[in-house]
Amino acid sequence: MSKKLIQQYVCQQCGGIHNKWNGKCFDCGAWNSLVQEVTEKSKSFLAKNAANNLLVHELDENVSDVERISTTICEFDRVLGGGLVEGGAILLGGDPGIGKSTLVLQMLSRLCEQGRSVLYLSGEESFQQIKLRASRIGISQNGIKISCVTSLAEIKATIAQLEDVKFIVIDSIQTIYDEHIESSPGSVSQVKSCTFELIRLAKQKGFTILFIGHVTKEGAIAGPKVLEHMVDTVLYFEGDRGMQYRMIRAIKNRFGPANEIAVFEMSDKGLNEVSNPSKYFLPTSSQQVSGSCIFAGIEGTRPLLLEVQALCVPSYLPSPRRAVVGWDTNRLAMLIAVLNSRLNINILDKEVYLNMVGGLKVTEPAADLAVVASLISASKNIPISNDYIFFGEVGLSGEVRSVSQTEARLLEAEKLGFKYAVAPKIDKNFSCKIGVIAVNHIKDLLKIL
Ligand SMILES: Nc1ncnc2c1ncn2[C@@H]1O[C@H](COP(=O)(O)OP(=O)(O)OP(=O)(O)O)[C@@H](O)[C@H]1O
Ligand SMILES: [Mg+2]
Ligand SMILES: [Zn+2]
Repeated sequence: MSKKLIQQYVCQQCGGIHNKWNGKCFDCGAWNSLVQEVTEKSKSFLAKNAANNLLVHELDENVSDVERISTTICEFDRVLGGGLVEGGAILLGGDPGIGKSTLVLQMLSRLCEQGRSVLYLSGEESFQQIKLRASRIGISQNGIKISCVTSLAEIKATIAQLEDVKFIVIDSIQTIYDEHIESSPGSVSQVKSCTFELIRLAKQKGFTILFIGHVTKEGAIAGPKVLEHMVDTVLYFEGDRGMQYRMIRAIKNRFGPANEIAVFEMSDKGLNEVSNPSKYFLPTSSQQVSGSCIFAGIEGTRPLLLEVQALCVPSYLPSPRRAVVGWDTNRLAMLIAVLNSRLNINILDKEVYLNMVGGLKVTEPAADLAVVASLISASKNIPISNDYIFFGEVGLSGEVRSVSQTEARLLEAEKLGFKYAVAPKIDKNFSCKIGVIAVNHIKDLLKIL
């Protein structure tokens, strides 16, 4: 087989390949992101593959249903869309020290208890370190197989030795390397090649594989976006590291709904499931303060109530500060403009701070009404009663539009003891007892507050 060394410059941000070095990547615009990488390509590769017999399917052929393997950690099963899938590839990303290794160790132990053969491949920690963590979080020696190899060839040999293995964890994808590629571990070529090879092996042998991925300081999984395209499911740890709870969100899922979240609580015994997450995002004291109200949101398929806080203070700057935590800055600017032109509430010259309490990133437009209510409350210094929840989308003319999953929002609010929901007009009759105060336009809010 003839082999050829190929030298190329690969963008570490987007994975774009260039023939010569440049200060800037022309594909994604990143500066100083091109790194020289050398790959070996065999010329006969293509010819050999093309000669294989090709298999063509028809859609009405019978195939067996995907079998779900429960991890017995309900929250984790939920983000996966019901459990692990045979041959599936999962990518789990998150900040350093947020609890990735802890969570997978707990999961491996649960799978082991069900009598499944599992393998933990760690390139980051020594066997002693893993053992120390396991004994701290109360996992006894229950048959988890652990190996600390980092080369792709050794990993493949280890997998080949363990014929019956059903679940493999790679901690982390940035530490393993393919000997045939000359660039350092963690570079785009290495990550791409190792992931590709391991996923191929997983599909062929029918085991599930989970890759742990590092994140860059911007919060994306280090390495190219293609990594996210290659796997079936992408999970991210999100939320505030300073807080006790940890959240995992499914960014992409080929086997279930995306955007689903799982909530855990970090303790010295590892991560515990939180089945009622709303309690983390609601105010703990019953004291009423201006600028705060409760938003009934939906995260994935599950309703979640959380507190929205706004603060307006005089500014002496030519362009007043707008600081937003957990929401979209452009959307805030839009609502401030709507308040100004439709309700004559002028906060354009004030500094505005908006906080979705608890570190959750809210992306739903349904939070508009709650944001408007807290802005009005903050600017006029009128507290909003603790009995109310808000949801609804606000348009540019100040009209309030209906949003999806109204019933789920109302039921969750009722369950947590709220008395009134301020919401867009509801046509259907729902089986909940909570009082619904319908608003068609944001000027109706002024009457309620
Ligand atoms: N003795 C302890 N008591 C309580 N919590 C602890 C203790 N030791 C570690 N932790 C928690 O475990 C976390 C580390 O978890 P873990 O090593 O699983 O993170 P990780 O995401 O794998 O990190 P890395 O990216 O470095 O691999 C720490 O941030 C801390 O919150
Ligand atoms: Mg780790
Ligand atoms: Zn690029």
